[in-house]
Amino acid sequence: MQTHKLDSLTMAWPTDWTALFGTSRPLILEIGFGQGTFLFHLARKYPEANIIGLEISNQCLVKAENTLQREQVANVRVIHSRAETALNHLFEPSSLWQVHINFPDPWFKRNHARRRLMQRDTLDALVSRLQPGGELYLATDILAYAEMSAELLQDTPGLDNLFDTPWVDAIPGRVTTKYEARARAEGRDCHYFAYRRNNLPAPDVPVIKDLEMPHLVFTTPLSLETMAQRFEPFKHSEGDIHVGFSAVFRGEHTLLFEIHVNEPTINQHTALLLTQRYGAEKTYTLQMGTFGHPRPTQGMHIAVSTLGNWLLSLHHEAQVVSQKVQALSSADQGH
Ligand SMILES: C[S@@+](CC[C@H](N)C(=O)[O-])C[C@H]1O[C@@H](n2cnc3c(N)ncnc32)[C@H](O)[C@@H]1O
Repeated sequence: MQTHKLDSLTMAWPTDWTALFGTSRPLILEIGFGQGTFLFHLARKYPEANIIGLEISNQCLVKAENTLQREQVANVRVIHSRAETALNHLFEPSSLWQVHINFPDPWFKRNHARRRLMQRDTLDALVSRLQPGGELYLATDILAYAEMSAELLQDTPGLDNLFDTPWVDAIPGRVTTKYEARARAEGRDCHYFAYRRNNLPAPDVPVIKDLEMPHLVFTTPLSLETMAQRFEPFKHSEGDIHVGFSAVFRGEHTLLFEIHVNEPTINQHTALLLTQRYGAEKTYTLQMGTFGHPRPTQGMHIAVSTLGNWLLSLHHEAQVVSQKVQALSSADQGH
């Protein structure tokens, strides 16, 4: 797997952008920069700003990272990140000067609400992160996407439309992105939105930070071998957090459980580790493994507590020794 220099799963939440760039300048964000034409145009147009590009495509990131190195562009950083993760975990409220989104969700269907970028929760996070007077620019070649976005943006009191119409079909002098050129060549009109953050209160979207590391210590008469044999893949959901326990692997003094933790703002594919405590015959610790770079989110707490409950349920003499797991209500059950 390609590992990028900057990845929202390994960066500090929130990120200190002044330290990262080495300068304190207004921040411009481009979401889904693709081939990077617009990103590098922003870098040239706003030398007095620091520019951040987000992508989920490895190929796009590698290309942009190579360009950055080759051309020694000082005011651009590219980050492997979903927009939802970056907006909720990396940026503080009122920290962004401009946000640009060019041609998101090309396979948009009106009913694919969960996966599309332009939706209420993400837009609320975005408005919260814009500073007063900050600007949001959106372009799409899908009429239904434009209509849906227009409704959403009109229902957003914290933003004022910079145009007299919901959108315009041309912006003279605008740099053309790769996707935009293809849309025009194939005869599709493009639709452009421009909004400005006003002084009305922003939606309250706090930065989601790391929680404490979840763990469970328990005793059970069962051996690691028996617990591994009893395991079957299962899924668990709480609210909009979904955890899948897909496999177990046996080490010398450990079991490693492969897990998928999907939360609205972050998806993690990682492992929980069950370790037999040194010197204590039947005492075990369940905690996050160190494979990949797991973050102690609400979903990881749910993963530890769910797997822990299952392990405890395997034997009537099993007993909790200590635990630190945070319930969804955020009441700390640890002691
Ligand atoms: C249709 S392409 C447009 C690329 C470029 N902006 C252009 O106009 O040529 C959409 C881009 O957004 C990226 N993308 C999709 N969902 C994303 C998300 N949730 N966060 C960040 N980038 C995303 C995709 O990898 C893809 O490169």
